[in-house]
Amino acid sequence: MAKAPAVSFFCTECGYEASKWMGQCPSCHNWNTFAEAPSAPKKGPGKKSPSLYSAQSPVKIREIRPESGERVPTGSSEMDTVLGGGIVKGSLILVGGDPGIGKSTLLLQVCRNLAASGQKVLYVSGEESPSQIKLRADRIGEFPENLYLLCETDLGTIETQISALKPDTIVIDSIQTMFSEEAGGVLPGSVTQVRAVTGTLLRIAKGEAVTVFVVGHVTKEGTMAGPRVLEHMVDTVLYFEGESHSSYRVLRSAKNRFGSTDEIGVFEMRGTGLSDVPNASAAMLEGRPEKGSGSVVVCSMEGTRPLLLEVQALVCRSNLGIPRRQAAGYDYNRVNILMAVLEKRGGLKMSDCDAYINVTGGIRVREPAMDLAVCAAIISSFRNRAFDRDTVIFGEVGLSGEVRNVSMADKRLAEAEKLGFARAVIPEGRKKATAPKGKIEIVGVKSVYDVMDLI
Ligand code: TYD
Ligand code: MG
Repeated sequence: MAKAPAVSFFCTECGYEASKWMGQCPSCHNWNTFAEAPSAPKKGPGKKSPSLYSAQSPVKIREIRPESGERVPTGSSEMDTVLGGGIVKGSLILVGGDPGIGKSTLLLQVCRNLAASGQKVLYVSGEESPSQIKLRADRIGEFPENLYLLCETDLGTIETQISALKPDTIVIDSIQTMFSEEAGGVLPGSVTQVRAVTGTLLRIAKGEAVTVFVVGHVTKEGTMAGPRVLEHMVDTVLYFEGESHSSYRVLRSAKNRFGSTDEIGVFEMRGTGLSDVPNASAAMLEGRPEKGSGSVVVCSMEGTRPLLLEVQALVCRSNLGIPRRQAAGYDYNRVNILMAVLEKRGGLKMSDCDAYINVTGGIRVREPAMDLAVCAAIISSFRNRAFDRDTVIFGEVGLSGEVRNVSMADKRLAEAEKLGFARAVIPEGRKKATAPKGKIEIVGVKSVYDVMDLI
């Protein structure tokens, strides 16, 4: 008797797969998100799944000659840093970010630079019309000869155009608008579509050594829309982030097969597109208050790059039953922990105070070395006494109030000195290891008590 074909279902939000339909997804708990997955095409004996590479038999690793380790500069030093020194030919690069943050602008500028250096570039847009893109291009400036534009969402047509044009670099803006026949009638942007489209792009990138940039939208939670599988398939994942009220944008690498992760590039959105901000520390400290409590400067490490940032705190008496706490650019839960440490170990009575923490410049920092600066800003605001303007401060704070070592203290101190800071408050343990090479005065602290004495 012929067996009925196995039908499986998947969640269009998170990609969870199940053998039967369900009202609520057990993984992401969304309702009514299950859709029927198309049955996989039957594999006949003669049908092989397409291979990414031409080598079909095992080869000795020492005999492999890499095509070329050379990197192609993107024309933006910030972008090159994030990519680990430039573009590796044939890589698939995913660029994610909130709507309107500037992904299309960034990639259009990269396309222009690559085309100007002699590459043939194809920009595929599924979101905007040619005239909309031309308007943006006009703001950015002059465009070279060999940059082509294709407004299309059907992947089959795009593939045909790619094989006719044979570009060196392709941009797909965005993955969620593309539609592949292979996925069989499922809506664009769904898990199945995103997976099928990425698979095809991967084959193009690896098979023909074409660099492919893919734009991806992010969900409310800040992760790439569609399944995580998208992030697994590509070589590099970059996130473009920033606050809407600030003109600064940060490009951060979350995954990079050809370089280190956590590298950042800083850009400024101007009337004429995005421009590199090579001296980010100076830009981040612009407009710092002359005098005033609750403002301190921290040196945080973003990848291998030291970055000076201003941390602000505002602690004031609350007129609510439950005091309000807010953090922008820093982990909210961490603020609560640090306030509890200051309350218990330092005796600061802040349980009836509202507290607001802000890292200026619209940058989000996740580094533990921020702890000490956040504590100092809170103490300074609570006591209404200004922290020394010429001092930087960094260190991790433990639950007993002890100040713990942080990595790369030398680099942080060098950056602080470069920007004219006279003093640095750092973990005592680091003080001995970091013999002062320059003129900057180093103050070692063992616990948050020591910091309280400084303010
Ligand atoms: P865009 O690249 O369209 O964002 P995304 O592709 O991530 O959705 O950027 C849109 C924003 O950038 C828009 O609000 C206008 C602004 N912008 C400038 O401020 N200056 C410029 O030169 C350009 C091209 C855009
Ligand atoms: Mg866009």
